[in-house]
Amino acid sequence: MSDIDQYAVFGSPIKHSKSPRIHKLFAEQTNQALQYSAELVPAEQFEQRVKAFFAQGGRGLNCTVPLKELAWTYADQLTERAELSKAVNTLALQEDGSILGDNTDGIGLVTDLMDNHAIGLKQKKILILGAGGASRGIIGPLLDQQPQLITVANRTVAKAKILAQEFSHKGTINGCGYDELTGQSFDLILNATSASLSDELPPLAAGLLAEQGSCYDLAYANKATTFVRWAREQQAEKSLDGLGMLVEQAAEAFYLWRGVRPKTEELIQQLEAERGE
Ligand code: ATR
Repeated sequence: MSDIDQYAVFGSPIKHSKSPRIHKLFAEQTNQALQYSAELVPAEQFEQRVKAFFAQGGRGLNCTVPLKELAWTYADQLTERAELSKAVNTLALQEDGSILGDNTDGIGLVTDLMDNHAIGLKQKKILILGAGGASRGIIGPLLDQQPQLITVANRTVAKAKILAQEFSHKGTINGCGYDELTGQSFDLILNATSASLSDELPPLAAGLLAEQGSCYDLAYANKATTFVRWAREQQAEKSLDGLGMLVEQAAEAFYLWRGVRPKTEELIQQLEAERGE
């Protein structure tokens, strides 16, 4: 066992993960001695690998695709935001030896929107495209900011309605199909579908984005995603992708593990510059 505190991200695929680099920079910036690695862990090996990691002195883990739901089941305790999202992206060893599960994706998104891009959420009309795991992870922290309403639109309408129902105690939220959006407009449209990855877009009616409204794709890529290109065509005030959210969810995980909040601005600028858009 190494003297230095060990952290890692588990997932599959994992080769292109930016997390080791992000956490190394956070550690340097905050003078924390730790090591952070990326490990290829398929779902069927999850439990055994997590157990071995913590048994060998590991202090905290990030879990990414396809492990977030398994991590949710694995954790001994959950934060409220993780409980509701039914997914965990951060596991943290507690003093009593138990494992806490948290989900920092939603707060990462909210921080990127509000602090980095000055997009206010209070009293705003928000549209979320998609009703899968990515949507589930962000709804709670978005509703905490007291928007006027959240509409979740999904190809499979029943999934959107069920998701809205699950979060209805936290604010005004409804679920519908894409065709029901005609005639409505929103201040902020978030793409939480996986459609962008295959260069597709859900069917979005014209006029969906209010004047001076902004768009945000939870996914990110080296070039503009299909949804970011659509946002530009709609003359969105801001057309953003999920690079900032990636850094902010990492900062929140780092804070949970180490009790110190790293600064993110320079790192986001550096990663933006590297992709040469
Ligand atoms: P994730 O965990 O990334 O959210 P998921 O749970 O598989 O992944 O959810 C993917 C989401 O993208 C779903 O909302 C899915 O719609 P359905 O529930 O109707 O399947 C949505 N999605 C994927 N491809 C899409 C496409 N081409 N058009 C519209 N929605 C799409």
